[in-house]
Amino acid sequence: MTIILGIESSCDETGVGIVGLRTDGTIELLADEVASSVEQHARFGGVVPEVASRAHLEAMVPIMKRAFATSGLELGDVDAIAVTCGPGLAGALLVGVSAAKAYAAALDVPLYGVNHLPGHVAADTLQHGPLPSPCLALLVSGGHTQLLQVDDLAGRITEIGSTIDDAAGEAYDKVARILGLPYPGGPPIDEAAKRGDPRAIRFPRGLTGPRDAKFDFSFSGLKTAVARWVENHERDGGAIPVDDVAASFQEAVADVLTAKAVRAAGELGIDTMVVSGGVAANSRLSGLAARRCAEAGIELRVPRPRLCTDNGAMIAALGAHLVAAGVRPSSLDLSTDPALLVNAVSV
Ligand code: KG4
Ligand code: ZN
Repeated sequence: MTIILGIESSCDETGVGIVGLRTDGTIELLADEVASSVEQHARFGGVVPEVASRAHLEAMVPIMKRAFATSGLELGDVDAIAVTCGPGLAGALLVGVSAAKAYAAALDVPLYGVNHLPGHVAADTLQHGPLPSPCLALLVSGGHTQLLQVDDLAGRITEIGSTIDDAAGEAYDKVARILGLPYPGGPPIDEAAKRGDPRAIRFPRGLTGPRDAKFDFSFSGLKTAVARWVENHERDGGAIPVDDVAASFQEAVADVLTAKAVRAAGELGIDTMVVSGGVAANSRLSGLAARRCAEAGIELRVPRPRLCTDNGAMIAALGAHLVAAGVRPSSLDLSTDPALLVNAVSV
């Protein structure tokens, strides 16, 4: 078995994962350790880059040690290292890439600088096995909302659509703030929505008009509509029905995401869909996606929440796909690229 170490530090999670690549091409998850600095950012309502970088620096070695302890492996067992080199926060990425270079140089093993976004898709292969080609990926996180055609995880990925303003997770975080719910906003809105009526308020569905880009997304107008609704309601002296607002907002997000993804799969003739990224943990999104995919004859794959949010195992898994495909490793002067495009799977 070829052992691949994965390092992730693009945002506020320091992740170290270890996977084993078998000769038949299947990948086994051997360790997945994550330290999050989310609590340090909570009072600011969003990730503070300098705080995140410092937290990565402090967490990297302890998390690395924990990953080796849980896997029962030793550093000398590692055959290759994969690290997120973009997209993400510049300072945060730098911590992971520097660590990966140090380990690669010390262990004299190949280094792969990889793209965080296909990493989210690779996470699913750890749970559900190899992906058919092609498949459609709906990537929904705090920083990204994209529809991707994945022909080959190791290199052929095409963006079909993306958000033109806020990411879906960003909209959750901003709406949570408007409603007085804690950061990150996804989980508390998901909970509140379960008690509310999704039909209470008809919030706008962005970019769903006949002349709009059919596979792009927009959530900024939705966020503003929620803010206006809450303002007007407060001006009229009413208490905010938080559960109904949360449920109605969540319905608008899940409706647009699933409608566009299912339509894209239909038009492209793709019959497998992967939904990944932090927002894929949302109960209404996965529920509605399951119903609409079943109606359209599409197989839906959603990795478990732990694999959906940022982690090192997904980076190790993507590294394993690159090793299996015989892709050339990166050089040791690899740099970070905070704006790396999704079609550059490795650099
Ligand atoms: O993938 P991720 O961990 O980090 C990024 O790469 O951004 O995603 C974090 C995002 C946050 O915006 C958070 O509010 C959202 O995922 N999120 C959720 C849920 N759990 C996390 N959004 C909706 N429903 C959830 N249950
Ligand atoms: Zn992510």
